[in-house]
Amino acid sequence: MRPTGAFPSTRMRRMRRDDFSRRLMRENVLTANDLIYPVFVHDKPGREAVAAMPGVERLSIDELLKVAEQALELGVPAVDLFGVPDPAAKTADGAAAWDEDGIVQRAIRALKARFPELGVITDIALDPYTTHGQDGLPDDSGYILNDETVDALVRQSLSHAAAGADVVSPSDMMDGRIGTIRAALEDAGFIHTRILAYSAKYASSFYGPFRSAVGSAGNLGKGNKYSYQMDPANSDEALREVALDIAEGADMFMVKPGLPYLDIVRRVKHELQVPTYAYQVSGEYAMLKAAAANGWLDDRACALEALLSFKRAGADGILTYYALEAARWLKAGA
Ligand code: PBG
Repeated sequence: MRPTGAFPSTRMRRMRRDDFSRRLMRENVLTANDLIYPVFVHDKPGREAVAAMPGVERLSIDELLKVAEQALELGVPAVDLFGVPDPAAKTADGAAAWDEDGIVQRAIRALKARFPELGVITDIALDPYTTHGQDGLPDDSGYILNDETVDALVRQSLSHAAAGADVVSPSDMMDGRIGTIRAALEDAGFIHTRILAYSAKYASSFYGPFRSAVGSAGNLGKGNKYSYQMDPANSDEALREVALDIAEGADMFMVKPGLPYLDIVRRVKHELQVPTYAYQVSGEYAMLKAAAANGWLDDRACALEALLSFKRAGADGILTYYALEAARWLKAGA
């Protein structure tokens, strides 16, 4: 006996039956154009493995150039540079962050000289450069000072723009930094330098492997970033943050972390209609790699599914440690 109602005139499985009809009704697609590759540049020769991030290494500038060439060949539009300074260069005020001969500034110049067409994004925050591992400058009680930190971030941004960065990317969550950096860039004539704002950056525990990668984990110790990064419980607050960064002159807007925050990606894209990016952070990468290493998950299939999910949620691009690997998988085909 057939049930009454829409069945069987509506059989959802008809369109799923064959490859051709599945392809015809596919709503979202992931391509190399959607990917940004984060790289750690250190101030020493060669490569160094990063704990808890299999396949990720800290790179010398020479090695960075090789990786940049691969990114170009694979059609990945941009790399995002994270500096790993010599521990001896760390200070309480993080001044190495705006040293014109600092590791990131030299890396930018080397990249733009050799591969001018590859987009160069740079992280703006003090944590790799400070002895306390915070993204900003603490007062005597340990509270991170807002406006003093913004002044430091402006210096760091100007030094990156002067070295040739295409996009500066403040990941610190201070108030007013986007507008202040934008004004300083305009005043200095860097009118083409884009700002990728980490507008909705949460105080997440998924950043653990990254803090080891840039060498800030030990310095931060039991410290936390709750007074500036967002509470994972909140969603409306993320929209206010993005709205402020729109008003302050950012060009691109980041939600971070990624997969646990797809609802935020969705709201930002659909309520504010701005170029929206998601950061699949170190802990998300580590989870997939660890399960794959145990034979519990299929790395390729799960990584591509996670990356496609960002597109479905509305992201225009994804910052991911999988960028080169995913681009290779996509190139090789299903
Ligand atoms: C800090 C910064 C962090 C990440 C990027 N920039 C860590 C933090 O906020 O403590 C994390 C990225 C990742 O986990 O992959 N400016």
